[in-house]
This record gives sequence, structure tokens and C-alpha cells, in this order.
Amino acid sequence: MKALVASAYGPVQQLRIRDVPDPSPGPGQVLVRVEAAALNPIDVKLVTGELRTMYPVTHPFVPGVDATGVVAAVGEGVTRFAAGDEVIAYAGAASGTIAEYVLVGAGPGLVHRPRALPTAQAAALPMAAMTAHCVLAAAALQPGDDVLVIGATGGVGAFVVQQAAELGVRVLATAAPADTAYIRALGAHETIDHTAVDTLATARRSQPGGLDVVIDLINAGPALVATAGLVRPGGRLISTLYGPEEAGGLVPVYVRMEASIGDLPRQAEQAAAGRMSIEVAATYPFDKSAQAMCDLAESRHTRGKIIITF
Ligand SMILES: NC(=O)c1ccc[n+]([C@@H]2O[C@H](COP(=O)([O-])OP(=O)(O)OC[C@H]3O[C@@H](n4cnc5c(N)ncnc54)[C@H](OP(=O)(O)O)[C@@H]3O)[C@@H](O)[C@H]2O)c1
Repeated sequence: MKALVASAYGPVQQLRIRDVPDPSPGPGQVLVRVEAAALNPIDVKLVTGELRTMYPVTHPFVPGVDATGVVAAVGEGVTRFAAGDEVIAYAGAASGTIAEYVLVGAGPGLVHRPRALPTAQAAALPMAAMTAHCVLAAAALQPGDDVLVIGATGGVGAFVVQQAAELGVRVLATAAPADTAYIRALGAHETIDHTAVDTLATARRSQPGGLDVVIDLINAGPALVATAGLVRPGGRLISTLYGPEEAGGLVPVYVRMEASIGDLPRQAEQAAAGRMSIEVAATYPFDKSAQAMCDLAESRHTRGKIIITF
């Protein structure tokens, strides 16, 4: 089969479509013929090797963790799926989705696709929506809370904003001018143009007493200490990246996405019913997937998800 391949750690410009061995499902695995795949920042980081100490990969490496497609074959012991089923898949980093076929474990990251949810939108869901769920669980938002979301217009942020707003909190969100109307439509009450002003100083002016919760999807390491200064005493700082164990007297919560049973089907049903909005920033055919990864790495399309179609 054909797949997008990195031969070694290095810049995404090295990616090429190549022939790789046809995968075959082992016990508990499902072979999915990919119809659409979504890109995530982690795909770039795994190719470049930025995360190699935490998440080493073997080469040749096929990037991509999210996909929709059709079940082509099932391995021993798989009873929930059969050939021909339309599915949404979170494949993890072991078997890349930017390929004609991908192997997926028949666990919480593999679910049937609701008919009303188009393949491209469905492919955008797994990693971003399940991360948003983990972020919101860690944030433990209460109605009336004031919440700042930094990185609100990206894949994870857009899901966080809409689900937070539904919980009755007041959402302050970063958004460039072109994305202000979009993020307000998702439920943000106030926006900060992070491209023109200092996000932290502006948020501090807006909430001099501090925010109940700050969800930072952008700043990592020492930069999180500055973000922590926005949180009111007793409030919470949530990050999807990494940073110090303690920041300005606060213990940040570092979220690592885990697929839990029930998350993905619930989110897919919400999206299919029109109760959750999915933004597709750009769509590329598979033969342009290397370009798509370069554009992701260069932040060319930053509102919603980049989709590869097959
Ligand atoms: N721990 C985990 O399990 C986990 C899971 C998923 C994602 N992540 C990480 O979480 C981060 C967000 O993921 P994602 O999928 O949402 O990324 P994404 O889709 O690339 O979105 C990033 C968003 O942040 C905005 N942005 C960039 N710089 C900003 C700044 N200085 N201030 C405010 N907004 C800014 C971008 O918009 P503009 O270009 O308009 O600025 C873009 O909309 C990534 O670093 C990713 O690797 C971690």
C-alpha cells in the first residue's frame, strides 16, 4: 500500500509517499481502509523528533493518528466490527493514518461513524475532541466560572470553548481578528487578539481578581509560570503541553489525552446531531499530504483541522 513516510527524524519537508508492506490485523486489531485522515500538531512533532524522549518512533514512520474509513478485515477476537463497517478511528502513534490502510486496536478509539456525520468532519474528531474532554474533566468547571482559553481557535481549543460555554461558564478566548466571529459563535463571551496585544496583560485587565480556570494550549515550560499569574488563589491551570511542577505557588495540571470508553461515540453523535461544531480549515488529497504537513508545521491553516482525503 501507499503511505506518507518519514525515513528518519528530521524536518517535515522530507516526507514522501512510498510503498510500504500491506498491514494485516493481529488479534484484537481492525484493518481500516482510510477515507479521510486529520492532522494534529503531534504528527509534526513525531516526524521531527521533538518528542523522541517521550514518544520514540521507529522508521520508516507513517504519521497520522486520526481517521475515518471502512473496515477491510478484523483480527482474531474482534466481534464489535465486521468488514464494511464505517468507522472513526484513533490509531495512536503505532500505525499511521496517512496511508491507504491503518491498523487500529478494537478499543475505545474505534467506533462506528454515525451516518449523518460526513467522513471529513468525523476524521477531525478523535484526538482533538477526546483531548478537549480530558481538559474539561481536569478543569472541573462550575457554572459562573471565568475561564481563559489560550489557543482557542485550534483543533482542541474549538471543542474546549464550545463545551465550556455549554456548562454555563464565561469564556475569554484568544482569537486573531479573522477568527473573532467564529470563536464567539462557538460560545466565547470575550476575545483577546493574541496577534496584536499581550494576552496575559489584557486578560489581567479584564479579570483583575484572577480567573477561576486558565486552559493554556500554547505555552510550555517556563512560559507557563507567567500564565499561572492569571489564576485566582484556589483556581486551576490546565495545560496540554509540559512545564514546571509548580508555577507561582500553583500546581498546574498537565493533561495527556486518553481514549475512554464512550467519549468518541458520544462526541460523534453530538456532532452528527448538530450539537457540536467541527471546523475543517483545509482539505488536501492524499498525493498532496506532504504539503499539508508542511503547511501545518508552518501554521498556514490555524482554524480547525486539516483533512487528507483518499
Ligand atoms: N497532551 C496531549 O495529550 C495533547 C493532545 C492534543 C494536543 N496537544 C497539544 O496541544 C496544543 C494544541 O493542539 P491543537 O490540536 O489545538 O493545535 P492547533 O490546531 O495547531 O491549534 C493551535 C491554535 O493556537 C493558536 N495560537 C498559536 N499561537 C498562539 C498564541 N501565542 N496565543 C494564542 N493562540 C495561539 C493558533 O491560531 P493562530 O495561528 O491564529 O495564532 C491555532 O488556532 C498542541 O501543542 C498539541 O501538540 C496535546
